[in-house]
Amino acid sequence: MRLFCRRAVNAFIALLLILVVSPRIHSQATNYPDKPPLLLGAAWYPEQWPESRWDQDLTLMEAAHINLVRVAEFAWSTMEPSEGHYEFDWLDRAIALAAKHHICVVLGTPTAAPPAWLTTKYPETLRWDENGRRDEHGNRQQFSFTDPKYRQFAHNIAEQMAIHFGPNPNVVGWQLDNEYANPSFDPTAKEQFHRWLEKKYGTVAELNRRWATAYWSQTYDQFDEIPTREDGENPALLLDWKRFVSDTWKNYSENQVSAIRPHADPRQFITTNTMGWFDGFNEYTVHSVLDIAAWDNYITGNYDYVANGATHDLARGFKNKNYWVMETEPAFVNWHKVNSPLLRGQVRDMAWQAVGHGAEAVEYWQWRSAPNGQEEYHGTLVGADGTPVPVYDEIRQVGEEFTKAGSAIAGTSPHSEVALVNDYDSRWAISFQRHSANFDPVGEMVAFYRPLREQSQSVDIISINAPFDGYKVIELPGLNVISQKTADRLMEFVRNGGHLLLGPRSAMKDEFNALQPERQPGPLAAFLGGRVDQFYALDADVPLSGDLGSGTASIWAEQLSTQSPDTTVVERYGKSNGWLDGQPAVLTRKVGKGRITYVGAWLDTALLNDITGGLLEEAGVQPILPGVPKGVEVCRRSGQGKSVLILINHNTDSAHVSLPEPMRDLIGAQSTAVNAVDLPPFGVAVLTRE
Ligand code: GLA
Ligand code: GLA
Repeated sequence: MRLFCRRAVNAFIALLLILVVSPRIHSQATNYPDKPPLLLGAAWYPEQWPESRWDQDLTLMEAAHINLVRVAEFAWSTMEPSEGHYEFDWLDRAIALAAKHHICVVLGTPTAAPPAWLTTKYPETLRWDENGRRDEHGNRQQFSFTDPKYRQFAHNIAEQMAIHFGPNPNVVGWQLDNEYANPSFDPTAKEQFHRWLEKKYGTVAELNRRWATAYWSQTYDQFDEIPTREDGENPALLLDWKRFVSDTWKNYSENQVSAIRPHADPRQFITTNTMGWFDGFNEYTVHSVLDIAAWDNYITGNYDYVANGATHDLARGFKNKNYWVMETEPAFVNWHKVNSPLLRGQVRDMAWQAVGHGAEAVEYWQWRSAPNGQEEYHGTLVGADGTPVPVYDEIRQVGEEFTKAGSAIAGTSPHSEVALVNDYDSRWAISFQRHSANFDPVGEMVAFYRPLREQSQSVDIISINAPFDGYKVIELPGLNVISQKTADRLMEFVRNGGHLLLGPRSAMKDEFNALQPERQPGPLAAFLGGRVDQFYALDADVPLSGDLGSGTASIWAEQLSTQSPDTTVVERYGKSNGWLDGQPAVLTRKVGKGRITYVGAWLDTALLNDITGGLLEEAGVQPILPGVPKGVEVCRRSGQGKSVLILINHNTDSAHVSLPEPMRDLIGAQSTAVNAVDLPPFGVAVLTRE
């Protein structure tokens, strides 16, 4: 049996693959045909400035090839200065003036920042925190996401905006609210949670059974007794609370979608701006009522381009198609401990990375800082004096390049043969009971993503409910919560020739966050022909060795055993806590036309890299462009008979990249085809065949 042989990269096969368009269709993010194919934008707040200033701002934007502004998402007190009295003339004029400068508009509904008159007159619209403390005016996101009165005001302002701006040809789309985040624990939220539970379980007896409430006398006699908490409660309650919160953000969105859709031009999309891996709610649930995904790409700490690329792929997976970067930083933010800037060149690098992963728009937050307010120190494109700051030129260059490469990129998107599953239920379940404080589910996702991305150069990050067909490899780094239905789908994927890799803590819980009646991986244990005998949180690294070489495990290690003669032990633990000594750490089994592999520990990068390499080779997954220097990212977008390679040198040194055939760099100095490109530090090439 061939098991995880080392791969021999074949450059010519990879070259052929460049032209192959996978059967998976990623449609365009927006159907507005008269907008530029790649948009460069900025968050603009005309309400904060005298109107006499607007033309100068828009002139400077146009000079930087900015062709998009997002406006109004915090302008409620300007648009509805008193109850039921709407003032949109100023915004009409701002949009018209932007259009004169060839700049189109995304309109934000202002519901993340209610006006003072509203929360003063209707204090029930204010959010309650978990301990029953009511929020107040002066910051933002102080509203209750369940309160009917707030819903009514949100519907009204969204509807009035849609009636007024829906027919405006310069409006390409709508952003609902801004960065949904905090649930409310007010009496309405509590009441709605109880009704949600009642609908789900039917009887309180069924809830008691599923939640095993005999434990600590948690037994409920009626739904109304159940607390609303996001910490410290029965994990079954905590999981249902998160699902309730997800459904509530979904119907919070629907409330506004139903106000906008009847009046908006059908070509205008509706989205909201999300926050990457944020786990406050299930993004797939909320995105089921949105047209496209959009996210706000801010760097925490140093720019780790692989981790950042993963977040782009996550956002693309929210709707399984191209998406927007609704906000990103013009070199620095104001909310870290130390707000150090990106290096010169990295702002452009990040813009192209976004496009490489499927973004159709990149927007900077923000154009110019408000004259006062909480964000005076945040990065901008122009200073308080209204003239460009140094990063303006770098962004202007991005704009120039988007213009040059736009038509080649139009209608294309990334296509992947490998997928990583992001599952909110599982991430929540692990986070409620980490058992090892260092077991960060996102850190684990990124650890598995890293070698997959570096070796295949294209990864989809998908929901467990997304279709599996078309993928050769699917990895589930931490599918802690699993239903029988999901287990059945995964087994079918393997039988049909798929390669499935499960990470530690997989398949431990059922959909009620209860322990599976069988050992891990629960409903997949018999299929694997192996199981987890015990799990251990680690306070010291554990050595491993086996067919794929040696390495270490940290944070988490599971003692595995085989139950089937054709299940192979790939790696074993060395000497550690006695329990693990000599025990299996990685198992694999061929089933049907495919393979299932269980990795029982958080492995070091090199070993995970080797395991991933073996898996990809056996599954026949080739890199897009083999042999590129380390730190050079390869992205490919294809579709409509086109194929574009985007190369980004994330290094601080130059890099030389040989091409498999002559290609033309659409943003380079040379207009003829080349056989190789030399990329300066943070250099980018956008290549097509000619
Ligand atoms: C305490 C409690 C037990 C149990 C254990 C767990 O001793 O009395 O009910 O929670 O801790 O270690
Ligand atoms: C978020 C918000 C913006 C702004 C930026 C600052 O993304 O959506 O309004 O506060 O952060 O980084």
